[in-house]
Amino acid sequence: MNRAASDIDPLPASADPQPARLIGDTPRGGSVLSFYSPRGAARPPRVGRGEGVWLWDADGRRYLDATAGAVVANIGHGNRHVIAAMQAQAERVSFAYPRFFESEHNIALADRLCALAGEGFDRAFFVSGGSEANESALKLARQYAVVTGQAGRWKVISRDPSYHGSTLGALAVTGDAHTQAIYGPMVKPMPKVPAPLSYRLPEGHTAESYAMACADALERTIEQEGPQTVLAFILEPIGGLSTGAVVSPAAYFQRVRQICDRHGVLLIYDEIMSGAGRTGEFLAAHHWPGARPDLVTLAKGLAAGYTPLGCLLAPARIVDAVAGAGGFVHGHTYFTNPMSCAIANAVMDEVERLDLVARARERGVGLRRRLEAVAARSPLVGDVRGLGLFSAIELVADKATRRALPAAFNAPARLTEHGLRHGIALYNRRANLGAFGDFQMITPPLTISEPELDELADRLSRALDDLADEVVRRGLA
Ligand SMILES: Cc1ncc(COP(=O)(O)O)c(C=O)c1O
Repeated sequence: MNRAASDIDPLPASADPQPARLIGDTPRGGSVLSFYSPRGAARPPRVGRGEGVWLWDADGRRYLDATAGAVVANIGHGNRHVIAAMQAQAERVSFAYPRFFESEHNIALADRLCALAGEGFDRAFFVSGGSEANESALKLARQYAVVTGQAGRWKVISRDPSYHGSTLGALAVTGDAHTQAIYGPMVKPMPKVPAPLSYRLPEGHTAESYAMACADALERTIEQEGPQTVLAFILEPIGGLSTGAVVSPAAYFQRVRQICDRHGVLLIYDEIMSGAGRTGEFLAAHHWPGARPDLVTLAKGLAAGYTPLGCLLAPARIVDAVAGAGGFVHGHTYFTNPMSCAIANAVMDEVERLDLVARARERGVGLRRRLEAVAARSPLVGDVRGLGLFSAIELVADKATRRALPAAFNAPARLTEHGLRHGIALYNRRANLGAFGDFQMITPPLTISEPELDELADRLSRALDDLADEVVRRGLA
């Protein structure tokens, strides 16, 4: 094991080092991983504590959290201001149902997010995560159509590949052959258009020309489906794990906006990963001001892992129409709960105090430079892309031909395993079983310092070296 001595923290180590642990080694109860891996598979380290960009396991080994967990921990771990706010709110009230008691933190958080999101976003609806936020967006769009005499509109076009969540409504608009093969019969089929991937392109295209062709495919699909049946188009403005941080040209967003306007189709940006400052703007949508969406969803970095929270931002014209016609027929037990809103306000206080949106922009430049250096020395990194601290590397067998590694090898999972040995935590969830290639998101907390970026690059490089050795050993390159 190639680990620096400073990676063993003598203080928090538990008295008894963790014995080797396997999935299914307790007959009942146990880890949630028993739902994901067969009995006998090795279990990952058990988390002990977190501070800043670092996580320690129960044996005191430390890992740089290079992906902020699942692109969540935007303000880093163990933030004292947020912990104090959590405690203060818990002592006042944790839960009061929002349709009977308003909470000051709901109002403050909504005011602040609408101000940060800017013109066109007047109301905020809080839920418990990204999938619920997208369900809320789809349902608000649908109810708006119903109450404005457009009940024939119900189809939501989305992109392939894409990811919009794991609930059945969100899965209907997710472009993923693997989930479709299992859950497809249980969801209403929704039309898909190609996502403008940028690394492997159809013959004769540049990334720019292909993006415009993908926008044109949206218009063709609306026309084929019948414009009066199409409710909305939902997309990740910068793809997460579905495309690995593909950033499309401004002209793509402008054309998409024009097409939606022409056909009365609502434009929804899923900013569950890209929002809350990660790309160097509060919303990724702010990078393309000429192409504002109608609805935006947020989660993950919004409460930065201190509590589960998602959010739908909407214009008053849509919310008023629905509220004036009997009210939104949608809600959850935990929606807009005072505890979560208080915590998210404390997180947003930290985002402002530490100027983290600007920091994401600045550190993004340093991260990009380091990832390009990592790519230059690794035979496996074919592409580096992203914006701000929302970036990804593409793993390939051959850089010259852009040939992917065999899908069955599951390069991202192998990289995660090598990364753990080198003290770097690399979250991954493989979309489409790797059919569109293998990428690894690199999305550290926005609080990361320049020396910590050096550590990230160094640890990532070492993990990639081990992966390259394995690729050669298995004869895959
Ligand atoms: C773009 C995007 N949308 C939606 C979701 C679903 O969010 P959640 O897992 O909080 O339900 C995710 C989660 O990874 C996501 O990346």
